[in-house]
Amino acid sequence: MNPVVQSSTSSAPTGLELCTELYSHEPDGTEAELERAFVAFSAAYNAFVEGVLTMPSYEIVIYTTDSWDAFPTLRQGFRLILMDEGRHITFGTHACKLLIEKDPSYEEEVHRVFDAYRGNLVGLVEYQKAVPGLDLDKYQTMKVRHYRNRCREMGITPDETLIEQILDPSIDFVVGVEAG
Ligand SMILES: [Fe+2]
Repeated sequence: MNPVVQSSTSSAPTGLELCTELYSHEPDGTEAELERAFVAFSAAYNAFVEGVLTMPSYEIVIYTTDSWDAFPTLRQGFRLILMDEGRHITFGTHACKLLIEKDPSYEEEVHRVFDAYRGNLVGLVEYQKAVPGLDLDKYQTMKVRHYRNRCREMGITPDETLIEQILDPSIDFVVGVEAG
């Protein structure tokens, strides 16, 4: 079964709408507007993309090439990428933490971003299922671990409905993504 995964609230923006909004903030906005926009940007880039979406993918390359006992140079390259990405993530989540401490209402920006891209985290895509020896449950569990860590680093409360959906094995595909 491939149930459709959508944002949990009907008012949540689409990814395109969110990007348009993020880029619409002018540098002469109020300090609060700029801080809120920065939290939205950093939540999208450092916390979501770098911190939750790609880290398990990098880890799974290391894990899989290790289990195959193949591609040692590729594995070493991804180890270096992991180290580098860790620095970006630490910067972004710490910046969000400082701003959210200053104004706790900024936390909603983080949840809004993660909600807008919920399907990308929850679903698996066809190529992932085609990797010999890839432990899909482990992959999803790694996503959850990273999500919890990013929330802890930002000092915010994780969305448990997102975690439940990531760990639901009956949800396979992201909205609009077809195998190919
Ligand atoms: Fe990065």
